[in-house]
Amino acid sequence: MLKVIPGETATCNNGCQLGTKTCPPALAVAPVHIDQDNHLWLKFWRDQRTDFHLPAVNPLLSKFWSSLKLVHGSRVFVPLCGKSLDMIWLAQQGHEVMGVELSPVAVGDFFRENGLQPVQRKVGQFTLWNDGKLSVLCGDYFTLTKANIGQFDTVYDRAALTAFPENIRSLYVTQLRRLVPDNAQMFFLTVEDAAEGTTMKQENSVDEEIKTLYSAGFEIDLAYVESVFEADPEEPELPARRAEYKVYRLCAR
Ligand SMILES: C[S@@+](CC[C@H](N)C(=O)[O-])C[C@H]1O[C@@H](n2cnc3c(N)ncnc32)[C@H](O)[C@@H]1O
Repeated sequence: MLKVIPGETATCNNGCQLGTKTCPPALAVAPVHIDQDNHLWLKFWRDQRTDFHLPAVNPLLSKFWSSLKLVHGSRVFVPLCGKSLDMIWLAQQGHEVMGVELSPVAVGDFFRENGLQPVQRKVGQFTLWNDGKLSVLCGDYFTLTKANIGQFDTVYDRAALTAFPENIRSLYVTQLRRLVPDNAQMFFLTVEDAAEGTTMKQENSVDEEIKTLYSAGFEIDLAYVESVFEADPEEPELPARRAEYKVYRLCAR
């Protein structure tokens, strides 16, 4: 089962805990639910509840990114980018990076904390912040159009899909498939809870939810799995559980 990265106690729009199986199916989601989810994220940033933010570049990104064999200078789209340092690393590899982030607090922090001097301009309903190879569109991912982000070759997802409660995830993937060109690649990092009683072999396979969400629009390749025993920070007295850190490579078809 996909692990929700924020590890927050926030409830999703239907009152259930973010990411639990109790959320109703995606088709039941009305736009108002996305608005409520957006409201929560804006509040997390205002209140500085940003435990999901990593203080360093994700080691799985730097270790496996080159396996995509991209050409130098290709454009990378980073949905729900937060203020991730991974964007800095991608730009250092020669890529043009286009992030999308709802919170102006996150976008402002990203440029300021990295000593960048962005210029801002309006792009449709979004504000585009740009300095050199780094751009972030500030606004709602669900209202993005292809014209807003332009042509790109690759998507990088770390804690984007899993930032949403389950009942919004299929909308996230539908929107992603609308935005990405055929043959675009996606580098996708997940953390998955090893289910009770499963063997290592079973865990070295594509997560069922990922199959359900992506297989219609993407080829899925599980490139790497790393098992780590971790205590639950909310219940440290319980025995450590096995979590699987996975690297997926997807290709839009
Ligand atoms: C779990 S965080 C992950 C951030 C980043 N990918 C990282 O690895 O640090 C999810 C991010 O998505 C943003 N977000 C949530 N809903 C969004 C939406 N509808 N449009 C754009 N950004 C959104 C949140 O503000 C938050 O910064």
